[in-house]
Amino acid sequence: MPRIIGLSGSLRRGSFNSMLLRAAVEAAPAGTTIEVATIRGIPLYDGDLEAESGLPEAVTRLKEQIAGSDGLLLVTPEYNNSMPGVLKNAIDWLTRPAADIPRIFGGRPVGIIGATPGPGGTRLSQAAWLPVLRTLGTIPWFGGFVFVSKAAQVFDSEAKLQDPAVLAQVQKFVTGFAQFIERFRPSR
Ligand code: FNR
Repeated sequence: MPRIIGLSGSLRRGSFNSMLLRAAVEAAPAGTTIEVATIRGIPLYDGDLEAESGLPEAVTRLKEQIAGSDGLLLVTPEYNNSMPGVLKNAIDWLTRPAADIPRIFGGRPVGIIGATPGPGGTRLSQAAWLPVLRTLGTIPWFGGFVFVSKAAQVFDSEAKLQDPAVLAQVQKFVTGFAQFIERFRPSR
């Protein structure tokens, strides 16, 4: 029963990436759950705040959600051909204190997908995450990809993924990621 934590990298109410995450939740194969977590409430990283008050509650909560999971699914927007600051900021907080990185991220399977109204499908953003995932000692899954372009035509007014080809890609991705986690899990 793989338990995956899904994180959208957008705070926007009408976020295409949050819609994509919901589509992934619905596309999860039987026996796999994708639990939607949030980066909302995480302040800008400030070393003084950390020294004075420790980790914000939203950070501690998310750290423990990830620590208790079998894998992490990042759903990333693309800003200026790279990852969005709000999601990078959240991941940076999650790496504090640094001694906790192996427990939260080390050896953890990570899948990455993303959506944009533009033509590029978040390819550059997804690529920009790779050095971060490597630095944290995660095990990124490269067995599939989801680059959602022209997102305004892919989701309907009810925020549902309507494009059958994209839906099939999402289903293939979450199924492959879940199988990877199942194969991988006994050695963790
Ligand atoms: C963008 N957007 C964008 N899109 C893209 O495909 N490549 C890019 O480099 C950028 N750059 C960019 C910079 C900034 C500052 C903003 C605010 C936006 C557009 C972006 O993909 C769009 O706003 C998405 O809707 C953001 O994702 P959510 O909020 O819909 O999940």
